[in-house]
Formats: sequence, C-alpha cells, structure tokens
Amino acid sequence: MELFDKLVIPQPSANLEMYSYLLMVALSILMIYSGILLGSSVLSVYFKRRAGKDMTDKHFWLAKDMIDLITTSKTFAFGMGIIPFLAVIMAYIQLLNGTNAPVVIYLLVSFVLFVAAISLIYIYQHAMDLSYIFGFFKTKIHDEDNDKTTQDFISFREDTESKGMRTGFWGVVILMLSLWFLISSLTLAVEHWRWSQVTNPFYLLLSFSSLVKFLHFVTASVSVTAIAFLIKKFKWQDEPTFADETYTEFAKRLNLSAALIFTLIQPLFIVLNLIITPKTVINYTMFGVSVFALIVIFLLAHFIYMMVRYNQFKYISPAFYMIIAVIALIQVKEQAIFAKANQEQMVVLAKGYEAYETEVLAAAGISKVEINGQDIYNAKCMACHAYASRLVGPPHKDVLPKYKGKMDALVRYILKPTKVDPAYPAMTPPGLKPKEAEAVAKFMLEELESKHK
Ligand code: HEC
Repeated sequence: MELFDKLVIPQPSANLEMYSYLLMVALSILMIYSGILLGSSVLSVYFKRRAGKDMTDKHFWLAKDMIDLITTSKTFAFGMGIIPFLAVIMAYIQLLNGTNAPVVIYLLVSFVLFVAAISLIYIYQHAMDLSYIFGFFKTKIHDEDNDKTTQDFISFREDTESKGMRTGFWGVVILMLSLWFLISSLTLAVEHWRWSQVTNPFYLLLSFSSLVKFLHFVTASVSVTAIAFLIKKFKWQDEPTFADETYTEFAKRLNLSAALIFTLIQPLFIVLNLIITPKTVINYTMFGVSVFALIVIFLLAHFIYMMVRYNQFKYISPAFYMIIAVIALIQVKEQAIFAKANQEQMVVLAKGYEAYETEVLAAAGISKVEINGQDIYNAKCMACHAYASRLVGPPHKDVLPKYKGKMDALVRYILKPTKVDPAYPAMTPPGLKPKEAEAVAKFMLEELESKHK
C-alpha cells in the first residue's frame, strides 16, 4: 500500500518479531473487550425489546445490567478498544509494507465502523439510564392524566425510549459489521494467495475461512459475556444489586446456561479452523496452542457445569480467567500462522532494512562496507604497480623496505606523494581517504613481510 509507505520505518528482524508479539497482546485485549461489548449489547438490545413487548421487569433489568457490564467507564473503551485497535493497524502497516495486501484498508474501514458503533452503544446505554429513571415515575404518573406536564413527560419518555432502541439496534448492527471486517482482514493477512483476488469487500467478508472465524468469535463472545456478567454480579460486587429474588434466579440461570452451551461449541470451531488451515502454514506452535486451548475449554466447561449442578459460584474466578486465556490463545495461534505464512515477507522486510541502514549510514558519512586494503590496492594501485616488476611506478619490493616499521610515513606518502626517484615520473595522488590509505599501507607492509620470509 503506497499510501502508508511514509508511515513505515524499515525495521531490523528483531523488531519485526516484536511486532508479532505486540499484535498478540493488542489483539487479545481487543478481542476480549469487543467480545464482551458485542455480547452485552446484543443481549441488552434483545432483552430490552422483549421487555417492551411483554412488559416484564426481569427482562428490562437484565437489559440494563447487561449494557452496564462494560460501558459504564469510557476509559475502558479507549484502553481496551481504540488504543489496541490502533496498535494492530500500525503493526500491520509495518509487517505488510511493500505487499499488495489490501488488509490495512479494510482494517481502517473496520476501525471507523468500530468507533461509530461504540458511540451509538454509549448513547444507548445513556438512554437505558433514562428509562431506568423513568421507571420510578411510572407509578406516580397516569397516562390518562391530561395536564400539559404529564403529557410532555410521557411524550419525552416515549421519544427517548424509541431513540434509545434505535441507537441500540444500529450500534449492534454496526459493531457486528466492524468486527466481521476486522476478523476477515486478519484472516486475509494470513492468506497471501488471496491478496490480489480481494477486489471488493464481498470477497473479503464472504470467504469460508473468514465466516468460520467470525462465527467462532461471536460464540466465544456470548460465552465470555455470560461469565463476565456472573463474575461481576456475584463475585466482584460485595452484595448483588439485584432487584429481587426472581430476577436474581433468572439472570443466574440464563447466564450459566449461555456460558455452558456457548463454551461447549467452541471445540467445534477450533477443530474446524484446524481443518481449513492450509497445510503449508500449519506449524507445531499453532497445533500445540490449539490443543492447549481445547484442554482449557474442556476444563472450563467442567467448571461451569459444576456451578450449574451445585448452584454456587466457587468456580467463577477460574472460569473467567480460563475464557480470557482461550481468547488470547486463539490470537497466539493466529499470529503463529501469520508468521509462518509470511516468512518470505519477513525476509524481504529484513533485507529492506539492511539497504535502508546502509543508506542512512552513507548519508552520515559512515561506510558500512569493511575497508579492505587488498581490494583498494587491486583497484587503485595495480595499474601502475606490481610487487616484483617495473610498471609506470617502481616495483613495490624495491621501495617498501625503507618504509618497514614506518607505516605513518607510508600512509603520508600515499595520501600525498612527493617526487622521489628521477628515474620515474611523479606519482599522481590516488585520492584515498585516510582510513583507506592506512588499510593499503598495512596490506603492503604485511605482504612484504610474508613474501620475504
Ligand atoms: C598513475 C600511476 C600510479 C598509480 C595509480 C599509483 N602509483 Fe605509486 N608510484 C607511481 C610512480 C610513477 C612512482 C614513482 C614516483 C617517484 O619516484 O617520484 C610511484 C611510487 C610509489 C611508491 C614509492 C615511493 C617512494 O618513497 O619511493 C609507493 C610506496 C607507491 N607508489 C604506492 C602506491 C600506492 C599504494 C598506490 C595505490 C593507492 C599507488 N602507488 C598508485 C605511479 C603510480
């Protein structure tokens, strides 16, 4: 992508490796955050809608608690969403520099959608706060009251509710689209044989591997959201702020079963992912990490099952760390595939760095090429000198003995020849730099030494 060439500073291979670690960390954080954001906003919008239809309080409360899961703090959205996302984009700009991969363009599309979605979801969250407050007045206000204030209040309430619903709905749709773009771009980064084929977004979004990975992400999102909900409500809050017993039981059951079902389908996707991964990019790291992820998932499913069975939350903390680990492991696996698939590109980049380094050093007047006395001698002196015979200049075996042990004098002569022997014309200055003259002088004296033995 020529557009980004200006942003690229050639990197030595050690730094390139660091970029893949950066990607692992940034993507893990981003995937965990956006997974919880997606899961909680989808479930919130869904239950808000149901609450609007059946007018049950438990659905409304669940919608409210869900959206408050992660959106109550704005720093969260920056620290775990926007900043890691930008880091991912920067890393791919560096790593795919010089290729025809349209990955970065689609990552930027995804990023713009991501920011838009987050804004809408925060507006929705705010509208939910208002609905919650309106709830207190419901009992005091009777819709059939005809005075102006009441009517104004009612129309304001209805307006806020419907706008809130719409922003929530579109926030979820755009977030889905953004994450679909994100995951498809990451998939494309690995499949370099598709780079020139992806001429429009449909080819990007509708590839089989992208769809599998996206569906995997969506199911993992529900699982991590349900577990995050349970740990926040039952572990981290000193006393659960549930409205009543019925709702507590409802929220607990619903999240536990969602966590269990959506954890149990994870292995399916991991195996499917392994099957569709081209043989050329399969490596031990990705295989090992996948197997490890499977083991963690089985343990996790077991812990959740124990909680369902014995109706207690002893295992919620390990379960939370396990689902986080699974999401991170999947990113590690993806980066292992990326590194393998783009081995050649890494070599190209490292070579590019070498060229860049020599260029920069040359601009600073430092030659990276080792100064070699013999090479300079061959190039600059042999036209007029031989070791043992007379050419334009005298044979070096005749003139060198007087410089034995006086390298400085020889260097001075080479840099600035003076008239010596009337039998010869004057030697024209060969135009060497001091360091080069030194190297030639050293070479000549050593040669004299070795040939006279
Ligand atoms: C264009 C021909 C020419 C080239 C090229 C040339 N020389 Fe010479 N060189 C001469 C001539 C002619 C003399 C004899 C000058 C004199 O005696 O005044 C000489 C003399 C010398 C002497 C003897 C000086 C003395 O004190 O007697 C040395 C040492 C020497 N050259 C080294 C070099 C080295 C090292 C290079 C390459 C970097 C070099 N020359 C390249 C023509 C050349």
